[in-house]
Amino acid sequence: MEELVGGREGVIYKRGDIVVRPLNAWSSTVHLLLNHYHAQGLTECPTCLGVEGDTELLSYVKGDAYNYPLTGAIASETALITAAKLLRKLHDASTSFLSKHHTDSLTWMLPARQPQEVICHGDYSPYNVALNGKTVVGVFDFDTAHPAPRVWDIAYAVYCWAPFKTDKIDALGTLIEQSERAKQFCDAYGATKQDRTVLVDTMVARLTTLVRFMHDEANAGNAQFKANIEDGHHLSYLADIDYLKRNQETITARLLA
Ligand SMILES: Nc1ncnc2c1ncn2[C@@H]1O[C@H](COP(=O)(O)OP(=O)(O)O)[C@@H](O)[C@H]1O
Ligand SMILES: [Mg+2]
Repeated sequence: MEELVGGREGVIYKRGDIVVRPLNAWSSTVHLLLNHYHAQGLTECPTCLGVEGDTELLSYVKGDAYNYPLTGAIASETALITAAKLLRKLHDASTSFLSKHHTDSLTWMLPARQPQEVICHGDYSPYNVALNGKTVVGVFDFDTAHPAPRVWDIAYAVYCWAPFKTDKIDALGTLIEQSERAKQFCDAYGATKQDRTVLVDTMVARLTTLVRFMHDEANAGNAQFKANIEDGHHLSYLADIDYLKRNQETITARLLA
């Protein structure tokens, strides 16, 4: 088996055309969602091929995978725009999932938020999509999927793709360039004026919720989150929250221009 990189180390493998990943309490919900997307003709995500012991078997999504720092094809305008369009497609295809299923009776990794407009991917970042050249053609890693407003997912995606990150490895461009990329993402998604008005506040709320979740999981004994906190991962999110708050006016002005 070949280990796949770009996510957690030592737990995601490829066996032929099958991806083998750890099974979680929420995996059956994710499988239902993935199969729903395919039934809707959205084939850019994996399908569930089955469960084997404590692992899930997913179809392999073809394409090139990337990670931070964003260089080459993943840093292109085409990647940014096609990523936003695919997120829109995912959201639109999820509304029929919400009408078909009583989401409160399903298990999710992250709590549902009101109003439940769409199923958010929850981690729609450059390291969870597949590219053909500069075009985003696939998306994976749906563990963090959960029902929530569209803008909740747009906010986290824009944060990751602009990116409004202050860490040296993750950063790209100036504040003006980041704000322009944020606007391009919103334009390609078809974000409303209201979405853009609340986007910075929603990014801050999303990151605050993420840091709280990391602490809660670590305190509950989750080894992965304990290690993340020990390595100071939460500190970069806190620095990014500060960066977003300091530059809220500039970013919002560009988003609404
Ligand atoms: N279904 C898939 N098709 C193609 N590549 C995948 C698939 N699932 C995972 N990968 C690859 O494996 C890497 C790690 O998997 P991922 O599901 O993102 O793990 P993690 O939850 O640890 O982030 C991804 O960045 C991607 O390169
Ligand atoms: Mg991942």
